[in-house]
Amino acid sequence: KRIVVLISGQGSNLDAIVRASEAQDWPGRVVAVISNRAEARGLQSAQAHGIAAESLDHKAFADRPAFDAALAERIDRHAPDLVVLAGFMRILTPAFVARYEGRMLNIHPSLLPSFTGLNTHRRAIEEGCKVAGATVHFVSAQLDHGPIVAQAVVPVLAGDDEASLAKRVLAAEHELYPRAVGWFVKGELELKDGRVTHRGRE
Ligand code: GRF
Repeated sequence: KRIVVLISGQGSNLDAIVRASEAQDWPGRVVAVISNRAEARGLQSAQAHGIAAESLDHKAFADRPAFDAALAERIDRHAPDLVVLAGFMRILTPAFVARYEGRMLNIHPSLLPSFTGLNTHRRAIEEGCKVAGATVHFVSAQLDHGPIVAQAVVPVLAGDDEASLAKRVLAAEHELYPRAVGWFVKGELELKDGRVTHRGRE
């Protein structure tokens, strides 16, 4: 299976996925990484692994549909079976989402459906949550609302601040996201009528 990963920043989840794909001998590999920011550190680590690394600056396009159309064209050159959003900080148009329905995953740093959007860790601490975590989900038209594939839970500890909680959640993401992507490339996951089925675990 061919995987294209979209990033905007450091790409630590990308690194975790690439490492898992190599170490666990998946029937799939990351064939390209595309960033909307040329300076994203993740592009360098992709190159270091011999993976095609490209950037496409959203600011060079008149509007969101124009950027998304260009992005889709770039993605499709790599003929992916799966598109993985890994810290890709752009809101996607419904047309883009529809094009990759059932074959585009995202990771969000909260236990969805709580805390969609930004500043998830700060908000979890402010609310006095005792647990936090991350969610891998299929991407649907509504931001951070797609069908849930997997979640990881971490404790919120007394004395946590945004940075300490973010670090704990990110470490959990590095286990969770490769596991979920691995399920997909092994053909274990399916999105049907808006619901996720995981073969052998129904
Ligand atoms: C992660 O916290 C992810 O949940 C969120 O953006 C962050 C990306 O981190 N969507 P990285 O670029 O993978 O290091």
